[in-house]
Amino acid sequence: MQPVRWGILSTAKIGRVKVVPGMMKSPLCEVVAVASRDEASARDMAAELGIPKAYGSYEALLADPDIEAIYNPLPNHLHVPMTLAAAAAGKHVLCEKPIAITANEAEQLERAAAQVMIAEAFMVRHHPQWHRARDVIRSGEIGDLRAIHVIFSYFNVDPANIRNKPDIGGGGLLDIGCYAVVAGRFVFEAEPLRVVTLVDRDPAFGVDRTTSALMDFGGGRQLAFTVSTQAVPYQRVQILGTKGRIEIEIPFNAPPDSPTRIFVDDGSQHGNRSARALECPVVDQYQLQGEAFSRAVRGAAPLEYGLEDAILNMRILDALRRSDESAAWERV
Ligand SMILES: NC(=O)c1ccc[n+]([C@@H]2O[C@H](COP(=O)([O-])OP(=O)(O)OC[C@H]3O[C@@H](n4cnc5c(N)ncnc54)[C@H](OP(=O)(O)O)[C@@H]3O)[C@@H](O)[C@H]2O)c1
Repeated sequence: MQPVRWGILSTAKIGRVKVVPGMMKSPLCEVVAVASRDEASARDMAAELGIPKAYGSYEALLADPDIEAIYNPLPNHLHVPMTLAAAAAGKHVLCEKPIAITANEAEQLERAAAQVMIAEAFMVRHHPQWHRARDVIRSGEIGDLRAIHVIFSYFNVDPANIRNKPDIGGGGLLDIGCYAVVAGRFVFEAEPLRVVTLVDRDPAFGVDRTTSALMDFGGGRQLAFTVSTQAVPYQRVQILGTKGRIEIEIPFNAPPDSPTRIFVDDGSQHGNRSARALECPVVDQYQLQGEAFSRAVRGAAPLEYGLEDAILNMRILDALRRSDESAAWERV
């Protein structure tokens, strides 16, 4: 397979530090250009990572006929507009999560997605630890699924950070609550029916800083999550079945240079004593994500999660926000 020729839209930290280095490890991805609003920043990133071309505007990069696919890690309010611009230029787009601010906005991508490939960059779904967990569930070892608990938190009170700016799509629900939603859909292999939310906002920034929610997946299956942008950094997923429990130790920010573990526990002893650790090999989930999208571009494999999936995820995030306003259960 010929590598797909990628262009990177902005010098965003996630691209510079994680996603682009991950893609550059792969023979399926060739990162040919980066663009920034500031040409010097683009040149710095290009020099740091060994990217051949640097552009001083996003438009110039989109006009480059040598580029086949775009990685879009702009602030959330620019995900749809710039994905549309890239699609209009005939480029496939891997767009950072959340793909939009609302489901309605995400639906604006439907026509473009009939012409080019558009996907939301939930890298976690490419990590083998999630597939291992799902294999254990499918084997029946932990019995019938009852509940999932998700915690994801970090501490960030930088007023200049995109997460603390409500007008460009900030707040914890859009930034990390989306992972709890993805985790529930992946593990239960179902869609939630209704949700209820409790939100605490930062009084100065106006963004949600701590959001907890309950999601009813039907059939007695529940997901509870807490995400916070102002709490000690932590992340964990617990999956409870009738006969066993699975714990994903580093569910979202799995390191690219050391193995990860999931624990499978029959609960016969307290304190993790009856848990067996399953070690997953060292992988770079951003590399795997870039490879999956590149294979889809070349027609070598189907796009497993396309725009439809991204819109479904946004509908759930919409319902979670409606519940904050109504202080009641909301149907998805
Ligand atoms: N999948 C993951 O693991 C993961 C992790 C973190 C973040 N993300 C997602 O990636 C995206 C970027 O996050 P980040 O933390 O990397 O952000 P960031 O470092 O602040 O980068 C955003 C970039 O967007 C460009 N930009 C254009 N208009 C802007 C504006 N009005 N305000 C600020 N920046 C603007 C800037 O690039 P130029 O100056 O070069 O034009 C900036 O560097 C978000 O959607 C976030 O949800 C994903």
